[in-house]
This record gives sequence, C-alpha cells and structure tokens, in this order.
Amino acid sequence: MKKYWYAILLAGVACTPTRNDTDEIQCIDATKARTGRLVVLNHPLVHHHLSIIRDKNTNSSAFRFSLKRIAEQLVYEATKNLSTIAVNVSTPVADTICKCVDPNRKIFIASILRAGLGITNIASDIIPNAEIHLLGMYRDEKTHSPVWYYNKLPETFKNTHSITVFICDTMLATGGSASEVVKMYLRKGIPEENIIIICVISALKGVNKLFEEFPKIKIITASVDRTLNQECYIVPGLGDAGDRIFNTVVAK
Ligand code: PRP
Ligand code: URA
Repeated sequence: MKKYWYAILLAGVACTPTRNDTDEIQCIDATKARTGRLVVLNHPLVHHHLSIIRDKNTNSSAFRFSLKRIAEQLVYEATKNLSTIAVNVSTPVADTICKCVDPNRKIFIASILRAGLGITNIASDIIPNAEIHLLGMYRDEKTHSPVWYYNKLPETFKNTHSITVFICDTMLATGGSASEVVKMYLRKGIPEENIIIICVISALKGVNKLFEEFPKIKIITASVDRTLNQECYIVPGLGDAGDRIFNTVVAK
C-alpha cells in the first residue's frame, strides 16, 4: 500500500488519503492535487454518484444517470481555464456586460468509443461550439492493447495552437487507449499542453504511463483506483463501462 502512495507522489501530485489507507477505494485529496497536472474531484455528490456506478447491482439507466452527474463536474473542472471575452447583453431590466467563451478558441471533444460517450454527450451540451470527434477503439482481449476501428479525422488542422482538445473516456486503465489518442493529436500538430484527458475512474498505472509519455498533458478524474487485475480491469473500478452504459453486460 505504501508503494501506491509513493507512486502517486512520483506522478507529481501532493496527496494525502481522504480515507483510512486500508479502505478498498483510494482517493487523493483534491485540494492538494489541484496544483499538479492531475485533478481528482473530491465532492460529496461526486462520491455519492461514484458509489452508485461502482455498485454491480445498479442497472443501466441508473448507471447512466449517475455517470452524467459525475461527467458534468469533470467537464466544469476541465474547462475552468478556457478564455472568455466580454459581450454586451440586454436583460429585460438593463444593459450589462457578460463573459462568454472566446469563440476564437477552437474546442475539440474527443470521445473514445464506446464508453467515452458517457462523458461526451454531457460535454457537448455544456461546452459551446465544440467540434465532436468520435474515435473507435477497443482493447484486444488477449494483449489488452487498443485496436482502432473508426477515425474519420482529417490529416491536419489549421491554427493548431488555438485548439484545446478534451479527450473523454469513462475508464483509464492501462492508459493504452488514451495514449494512442494523444499521440494521434500530437501528430496533427496540437500542442501537448492543449490536451486534457477527462475520465471518471482511472488506475494509477494508466495515470503514471500518460504522465511519463506526455509531461504537459492534464488529467481530470473522479478517482484514482489502486490497481488492475489480470484482465487489466480497474480494481475496484466498476467493471466494463461500455457494457454498463449500453446495457450489453453478458451474464457470466
Ligand atoms: C475500455 C474503455 C477505454 C479502455 C480503457 O474500452 O472505454 O477506452 O477500455 O482501457 P486502457 O486504458 O487499458 O486502454 P473497451 O475496449 O472496453 O471498449 P468499449 O468502450 O467499446 O466497451
Ligand atoms: N475498461 C473498462 O471498461 N473497465 C475497466 O476496468 C478497464 C477498462
């Protein structure tokens, strides 16, 4: 267990356990993690909804509802540094000056199918004028490496320095899938510091892999779980996120 906390410290995050470290689920103190490139939400309602989506007895509809509630919080956290411009607005009572998200900043929401859709649907509701990228990828059952099956993005983008990319996936396990997607955007010229990964549950192994490979990216998550099992599922995690969102769980 000591090794677990040491590894989080190595990931560049000052942290203290919010619960006794013999607890099944390990969390990082969000107020301290905030200074680093890893932000772990620490909000009572996020914990509440996490407890619902982790529960194996939660049905698909309740799973999606709670997942959306967590996704909303993750998206607000991930977008809090977006630049704004002043706009004149007339209310029914008076003229005033408001702020809106800078329309010159291009925003991409990248959804890693299928489980990324659980976040993307909410992100596209909240973030104005975002371009949505659907990226089809599954993990090979034996090697656990990601396999692409859908990507219709153009070879290059214009003005890449004014683009922010939010990569959304419910689970970050080995980090293989997210890493593939980050590399794909880097090849297209997007600066690493403009890439933010949003995931509901992450595993320490995946977080460390991504920070080692890409020192300037950010990760926003609701939990960093302790380990992976032999099938590379996150422990304790929530099982197969895609199956639970889309109600395709096969009884074993
Ligand atoms: C899941 C999940 C992530 C990936 C994470 O996808 O949605 O994309 O695994 O694992 P990694 O960090 O080890 O790459 P899965 O292959 O289960 O596909 P699905 O979402 O279509 O069910
Ligand atoms: N993908 C999932 O859906 N769940 C895990 O625990 C790991 C990868």
